[in-house]
Amino acid sequence: MEECEEGAMCDAGIISAGQKVEHYEIASYGTLRQFAETLGYEDAADLLQLTLDEEKAADEKLTEVAVATINVEASEEELGKKTSSTSKSKK
Ligand SMILES: [Fe+2]
Repeated sequence: MEECEEGAMCDAGIISAGQKVEHYEIASYGTLRQFAETLGYEDAADLLQLTLDEEKAADEKLTEVAVATINVEASEEELGKKTSSTSKSKK
């Protein structure tokens, strides 16, 4: 990951990257759980389902943080930059 300026926009990018990882994990554990179920490995399928549920919960938590705070702060940060640059150019 490239460096970014510290602030809400950077945090939003980190959350986005984290959610990409969670989605990859959800796809992987979901597929493995289904394979285990198809092959009759019920104990493995149950464990994989638990892990899949944890990954989904992590994804939902990241969404909550992004929607409730970080995305709003990031957009305000960007609007502040635009307003600042607009007022500077008017001088
Ligand atoms: Fe994860």
